[in-house]
Amino acid sequence: MPVELNHTIVAARDSDVSAAFLAEVLGLGEPVPFGPFITVETDNGVTLDFIDTDGDIDSQHYAFLITEDEFDEIFGRVTQRGLPYWADPARRRPGEINHNDGGRGVYFPDPNGHLLEIITRPYGSGG
Ligand SMILES: [Fe+2]
Repeated sequence: MPVELNHTIVAARDSDVSAAFLAEVLGLGEPVPFGPFITVETDNGVTLDFIDTDGDIDSQHYAFLITEDEFDEIFGRVTQRGLPYWADPARRRPGEINHNDGGRGVYFPDPNGHLLEIITRPYGSGG
């Protein structure tokens, strides 16, 4: 049986707001409550399960593989919202995207300081 990532938990100051942000920016389906979580499902069946916390939130990194057309749409929503964005995870190249592996990629923050990334080519796929 293949091993597949099924879900992960994402700490949030406000899980409703954070789940809605992710779903809207990425163009995914409406968030769904499940127990104490608000879940957002990606197109390969992984759910990000947002949960409220009053404690410190350590910034995590979540990367999403998308098509070139989706990049135009999602990056359009990032800029429309006036979000900061960077070409690199160290945030040394603000206001730029990258062309790693012959595709396009960019990093931007979610409402909790998690660093989101969209890429149109998987790491290392450019040869
Ligand atoms: Fe990454």
